[in-house]
Amino acid sequence: MKKVNFRNLPSQLSLLLLAVTLTFSTTLFSQDAAAETGGADAVAGKALFNANCAACHKLDKKATGPALRGVVDKYDQAWLYSWIKDSQGMVKSGDATAVVLFAENNNSVMTSFPALSNGDIDNILAYTSTPPPSPPPPIEVAGGGNGTGDGVSNNIILAALALVFLLLVAMLFLVTGTLKKIASANGVDYPVKEKGLPIWKVFVQNQFLVMVCSIFLLLASAYFAYGYVMQVGVDQGYAPVQPIHFSHKIHAGDNKVDCNYCHSSARKSKTSGIPSLNVCMNCHKNIADYNGEEDAANGYDKAFYDGEIAKLYDAAGWDVDEQKYTGETKPVKWTRIHNLPDFAYFNHSQHVTVAGVDCQKCHGPVEEMEIVEQFAPLTMGWCINCHRETNVDLKGNEYYEKIHEELSKKYGVDKLTIAQMGGLECGKCHY
Ligand code: HEC
Ligand code: HEC
Ligand code: HEC
Ligand code: HEC
Ligand code: HEC
Ligand code: HEC
Repeated sequence: MKKVNFRNLPSQLSLLLLAVTLTFSTTLFSQDAAAETGGADAVAGKALFNANCAACHKLDKKATGPALRGVVDKYDQAWLYSWIKDSQGMVKSGDATAVVLFAENNNSVMTSFPALSNGDIDNILAYTSTPPPSPPPPIEVAGGGNGTGDGVSNNIILAALALVFLLLVAMLFLVTGTLKKIASANGVDYPVKEKGLPIWKVFVQNQFLVMVCSIFLLLASAYFAYGYVMQVGVDQGYAPVQPIHFSHKIHAGDNKVDCNYCHSSARKSKTSGIPSLNVCMNCHKNIADYNGEEDAANGYDKAFYDGEIAKLYDAAGWDVDEQKYTGETKPVKWTRIHNLPDFAYFNHSQHVTVAGVDCQKCHGPVEEMEIVEQFAPLTMGWCINCHRETNVDLKGNEYYEKIHEELSKKYGVDKLTIAQMGGLECGKCHY
């Protein structure tokens, strides 16, 4: 009769458990867009859609052809492949659905796309299956600037992980139990003294297991602690939904409204400020609806934009029919995007007017942004790097010319960086 050594069983099982947990967590953490679209690539689909279909189709509104969002739910896949590759062929062949569709659209002819592969069409359909952009919620947004919206999904992941872990522990006990049963049924001997041993003693006695677990715990906590420390207060890319959808692309880009028209205090004062609704109404008394180019690809269309202008009227208390103010205003609480901690001093006019730094240098291509997002990290390192690299513009500035002479002697250079002028002194930014 062979003797099976069961002493290693708990440690082998724990290793297995560890491996499974790790795999689970990596897959959970790296769940990506592909999962949402079932494998097809909605981003590639968007490009194909814009190149081939956008001339006649929009996602949410009828154009020459019907609105295409959710079209996969109307027809089966094979029918869609044939239709898109050769719609007229299908009409001529007498396919009932095709004939009706063609008649319903006043016999307008859809281009055939024999060159598109089924894969291409899958991508396009994945794009038409993306959910519509949710309209901004009613005015209720609070001031702060730290919510990134990730908290909820992270909590779900953590809860899922905890559940998986518990399940695995339960399985471990079941497996041990079953193995013991099999062992005794087959008459295999295993050291009885382990039977009565509490699980924690088995654990503590197995030094390898203790070591693996400690290393795992240490690495995990270091990872989270590091991630936490590096993320605190860094909101790069933060782009909250605003109470009124305000497109910088339409205003500062398409219509070339100067940044300073709305953010006029950027030149004169420490803060740049958000314009009051009066500033908006200077133009919007006369601009009640949107007739510019639509961003159909993102689902922003005339109806959406008109609705947003209506929100502006509602907030400013402007009665469009009577063309007068009702006096009932509702303040718009714009969510603040950029937000330095109170202990750091930053002055716009110093940078914009004195130093002549372009808004875009710090805020990125705002005139191309449908929704403004934080472009720069706004960390101390970011401020300091620019101060190290940028030369002070001394031309025509008597004050600087004097300092310049003295300092350039001291450093033996003709160009002075802000750092050399004292831009790295703690007291300049902290007080
Ligand atoms: C020249 C204009 C035109 C272009 C370009 C075009 N379509 Fe169409 N499409 C139509 C018209 C018009 C209809 C309505 C049926 C008809 O009249 O033939 C239609 C119908 C459809 C339908 C059926 C929609 C429904 O709700 O019943 C689908 C799906 C479709 N098109 C997909 C595409 C895709 C995908 C592309 C790009 C690869 C594309 N179309 C490019 C004009 C166009
Ligand atoms: C027609 C008025 C208007 C114009 C022109 C305009 N903005 Fe704005 N800007 C706003 C409004 C309203 C907000 C607040 C809503 C938002 O964040 O989208 C804002 C927000 C911002 C923010 C984010 C503020 C925060 O909360 O941290 C930045 C940065 C900004 N604008 C930069 C610019 C730059 C750079 C330009 C020129 C390219 C510009 N803006 C032109 C009205 C305007
Ligand atoms: C200098 C003139 C001007 C000012 C100031 C202005 N707008 Fe506009 N706004 C326009 C123009 C032009 C359009 C585009 C109209 C079109 O293309 O038909 C527009 C479009 C819009 C739209 C629809 C597109 C979008 O961005 O969602 C909204 C909403 C809007 N403005 C809100 C505002 C708000 C809020 C303010 C004040 C912070 C403001 N506007 C200030 C000229 C202005
Ligand atoms: C040297 C970098 C830099 C430049 C140049 C710059 N900004 Fe800023 N901007 C910032 C920083 C940093 C903040 C955050 C300030 C804070 O939280 O106190 C900010 C905040 C803002 C805000 C939010 C409201 C406020 O005042 O805090 C607006 C709006 C804004 N900037 C617009 C502009 C415009 C318009 C220009 C160009 C005329 C411009 N900025 C140029 C760095 C810059
Ligand atoms: C794009 C480059 C750039 C960035 C980013 C930048 N600065 Fe500056 N900063 C300048 C320039 C250029 C000057 C010189 C202004 C002058 O000529 O007085 C300056 C000057 C200053 C001064 C005055 C220094 C003195 O010697 O009087 C302070 C304070 C300052 N910056 C704070 C900040 C802070 C805080 C940040 C980060 C939130 C920041 N800066 C980010 C370019 C930058
Ligand atoms: C050019 C401006 C500037 C100068 C000079 C500067 N700081 Fe900062 N510092 C900042 C900004 C901006 C923050 C906020 C960064 C953030 O929120 O991530 C900051 C944050 C800090 C923090 C908080 C920790 C952190 O990184 O968030 C400490 C501590 C600090 N600074 C110390 C110093 C000391 C010490 C000096 C002098 C050697 C100094 N700073 C010089 C701009 C500056």
